Amino acid sequence: MALRTIRTDDDPILRKKSRPVENFDERLFELLDDMKDTLIKAEGLGLAAVQVGVLRRVVIINMDGKFVELINPEIVKQEGEQKEAEGCLSLPRRAGVTKRPYSVRIHAFDRFGKKHAYNGTELMARCFCHEIDHLDGILYSDRLAPGETLYPTEG
Ligand code: NI
Repeated sequence: MALRTIRTDDDPILRKKSRPVENFDERLFELLDDMKDTLIKAEGLGLAAVQVGVLRRVVIINMDGKFVELINPEIVKQEGEQKEAEGCLSLPRRAGVTKRPYSVRIHAFDRFGKKHAYNGTELMARCFCHEIDHLDGILYSDRLAPGETLYPTEG
C-alpha cells in the first residue's frame, strides 16, 4: 500500500471522463488499497480514482468509518433536492453550496465484481453524486446552487 498524489485545481486530468473497470484483478486491488490510505491521510469523505491520476470508474467513500468501494457506480434513482455546502480534496481550501438530489439509489460493483445497491440521503446522497460526477470530469464547482460562489475555508 502506498499514498498517491491527489491532483488539484487546474490539473487537466480532473476534466477527463473515466473508463469502466473491466478486470477485477490485483491491479484494481492495489489501486483501491492505495486510495483508501490516501483518503485516510487526507481526512476526506470520498475519493475518485481520477483524483489520483487513474482514469477508471473507481470510487472509495468513508461511510461513518466504514470504507465502501464503488466500481462502475451508477445512479439509478434520485429524489428531492438539497442545497448544502460541499468541498473537494482536489479544490483545497474552498467550499460552495451545491444543488443535489435529497436521496439517491446507486448500483455499483465491489472489488470482486459483485453488484450491490446502496441508498443515500442527505450527506451520503451528496457524496455519491459528487464522486460519480468526478468520473465524468465534473467538479462540484460546476453544480453550485443559483447565486452561490466558491468561498475560502480554513482546511
Ligand atoms: Ni471531490
